[in-house]
Amino acid sequence: MPVTAVVGGQWGDEGKGRIVDYLAQDADMVIRFQGGDNAGHTVINEYGTFQLHHVPSGIFNPRTVNIVGTGCVVNPETLLEELRTLEETGVRTDNLYLSNRAHVTMPYHRLLDGLREQARGGRAIGTTRRGIGPVYSHKTARIGIRLGELLYPDRVRERLKIVLPIVNQELATYGHPPVHEDEILSRVREWVQHLGDRIVDTVPLVRKALRENRRVLLEGQLGVMRDLDWGIYPYVTSSNPLASYGPVGAGFPMRYVTRVLGVVKAYSTAVGGGPFPVELLDETGERLRELGQEYGATTGRPRRCGWFDGVAIRYAAWLNGFTELAVTKLDVLDTFPEIKICVGYRLPDGQEIDWVPDTPLLEMVEPIYETWPGWMAPTGHARRWEELPENARRYLERIEELAGAPIRYVSVGPRREQLVARVL
Ligand code: GDP
Ligand code: IMO
Ligand code: MG
Repeated sequence: MPVTAVVGGQWGDEGKGRIVDYLAQDADMVIRFQGGDNAGHTVINEYGTFQLHHVPSGIFNPRTVNIVGTGCVVNPETLLEELRTLEETGVRTDNLYLSNRAHVTMPYHRLLDGLREQARGGRAIGTTRRGIGPVYSHKTARIGIRLGELLYPDRVRERLKIVLPIVNQELATYGHPPVHEDEILSRVREWVQHLGDRIVDTVPLVRKALRENRRVLLEGQLGVMRDLDWGIYPYVTSSNPLASYGPVGAGFPMRYVTRVLGVVKAYSTAVGGGPFPVELLDETGERLRELGQEYGATTGRPRRCGWFDGVAIRYAAWLNGFTELAVTKLDVLDTFPEIKICVGYRLPDGQEIDWVPDTPLLEMVEPIYETWPGWMAPTGHARRWEELPENARRYLERIEELAGAPIRYVSVGPRREQLVARVL
């Protein structure tokens, strides 16, 4: 049984949570392989409406084992809050495990994220201020603390002796008071008390599932345009949302991933800074935001909106190796008489390109659009491909062409059942 990687094909918030929740009705395991509580994955199902930050979107199926993998960073405070919310609504969470090798987002990481952003002034990345950059940079600098170490308080104390002077030195440059070892250690004790049993070596669990041919889903966070290496650097996150990082972050050989499902919105949105060529700063952009309720799931910030970017999707499809697509929020376009698709970028010298260039050049491009007729009919009730209006199908077929991958799912509303599962 192959592994299916479900990853974002744009700037994040494509509807990954919603798609994983749907697919997990029939999955044995869901693994988050990168990112932290910067993620906001919205799921609407029979239990209610949830914004999942750490917990994989397979949590609603009691038969699904959910794993927060080694490639993730975990803030125990927000995780505990998330678990409380889930449990209060009757969702069982005993099937959630945390990799002992995942890094801990400490309170000082959040603090540093906010202070660094403030110091960047007009050149801020627009991070979620969840400490993501600082915790991943401590990981690569080898001064991070992993979840498994929390189980050994003496060890944490030792590690803090190395990291806190570095942190406090940086805090001092911002005129911020130092953080103290004892404060951190007392929080650590509390975290271990509530989360200790979930912190395990996840390799045996994953290996067993794959050897037994179980259905395993990888749940990506964010999207390729914010990938640390391939996104719009420096306006990126500090991990790799690409499908190829899945086996690294989850802990299994890459040959198991045979399906890569790219989740893409039927138009474009981005939250945070950086070049976004298709951005519409006019009434149409405003309309997309209102109809699509485009406000950040984690920070509540209004999302930047624009037409579908076919150049970005070609790039995403290549880098991820999409074998199929899930297009979400088609219903948001139901009332537009004309819909545009960006099919190329024009450089200042007039040259046309169909590839995403590096940030300095991307900041200079102008989008080249094609105009498609809208369908002017509600799609929210559709459950079969044939039930979609003809113009909607044509529009979707153009997206397939640009991505070079077939559309397997079309989401026509936020609720679990509002989905067209196409027979290919
Ligand atoms: P994720 O981070 O990729 O999981 O996506 P988010 O949850 O941040 O953003 C997707 C938003 O769109 C959420 O508010 C969803 O409830 C909503 N959504 C998902 N699919 C659809 C859809 O097909 N139609 C509409 N109208 N809303 C959708
Ligand atoms: P999901 O998983 C959309 C953006 C931030 C900022 C950049 C870096 O819900 O799709 P970070 O806090 O990671 O250091 O911020 O990435 N960003 C997201 N945008 N959806 C997310 O997650 C995001 N997580 C981070 O706005 O531009
Ligand atoms: Mg989101």
